Amino acid sequence: MKKFLVYAVLICTIFTLVVFAGCTSPEGTNGETGDEVNGEVEGEVSGEVEGDPEKIIMGTNADFPPFEFRNDENEVDGFDVDIAKAIADALGRELVIEDMEFGGLTQALHSKRIDMAIAGMTITEERLEEVDFSEPYYNAGQTVVVLEDETEIKSVDDLEGKDIAVQLGTTGDLEAHERFPAEKIRQYNKINEGFLDLINKRVDAIIIDVPVAERYIEIKGGCKTVGGVFTEELFGVAVSKENPELLDEINKVLADLKESGQFDELISKWFE
Ligand code: ARG
Repeated sequence: MKKFLVYAVLICTIFTLVVFAGCTSPEGTNGETGDEVNGEVEGEVSGEVEGDPEKIIMGTNADFPPFEFRNDENEVDGFDVDIAKAIADALGRELVIEDMEFGGLTQALHSKRIDMAIAGMTITEERLEEVDFSEPYYNAGQTVVVLEDETEIKSVDDLEGKDIAVQLGTTGDLEAHERFPAEKIRQYNKINEGFLDLINKRVDAIIIDVPVAERYIEIKGGCKTVGGVFTEELFGVAVSKENPELLDEINKVLADLKESGQFDELISKWFE
């Protein structure tokens, strides 16, 4: 009898442990943990979720200063984050930021894991087939970054036969593939690592959006842009095609920011 009791207690304990372990796992089904916003740790958002009306989730890739990057407190910060805050404020919703791979943003909009993608994202024909974009909020284009003492590469036309770094899934990646053979192009999830490889001479050049190129050059030193800007690109906020109401609201906020002068303040805050 005593033995039986011991077994019963043991089995109950194991059962309880197993059930609780399942419930309190800090990892989402996607295996990613939450990100910090305004110093608060947000829970992860997994798989198919129906939007929480109190919150608005911005998807981004925080490897793109000054649009989005991790600040000294390891929070996602930048021009795009300030725009997202203005949108959240206007809608009376709490801003939650999901930092993810750039290439996963449109899929995250489809699965409703995020409500809007603000990631220095260029409005392109291909993307417009998948998602809707707000009115453009920034004007940029691709440029080439090389080491400071580079003399041979003077523009994108001199990249034939060179090893080129790009961020995976970006317009820089597409431009590179349109011009050069795939085996010469190195795709990085984090272009920060592309810069490290440039500095360590493992690649010859980087193709990237000009404002971000300039910021990285400031941070890293030892490199320069050549040949100016060779594409014309406009950045927009992307939302699911199933959410035209949110798109209207975002466009209204952008228009209000421009009219009130706040938009220009943000430009000087982040770009001057
Ligand atoms: N403008 C480029 C594009 O849309 C690059 C954007 C990369 N953004 C980022 N947050 N890493 O493809």
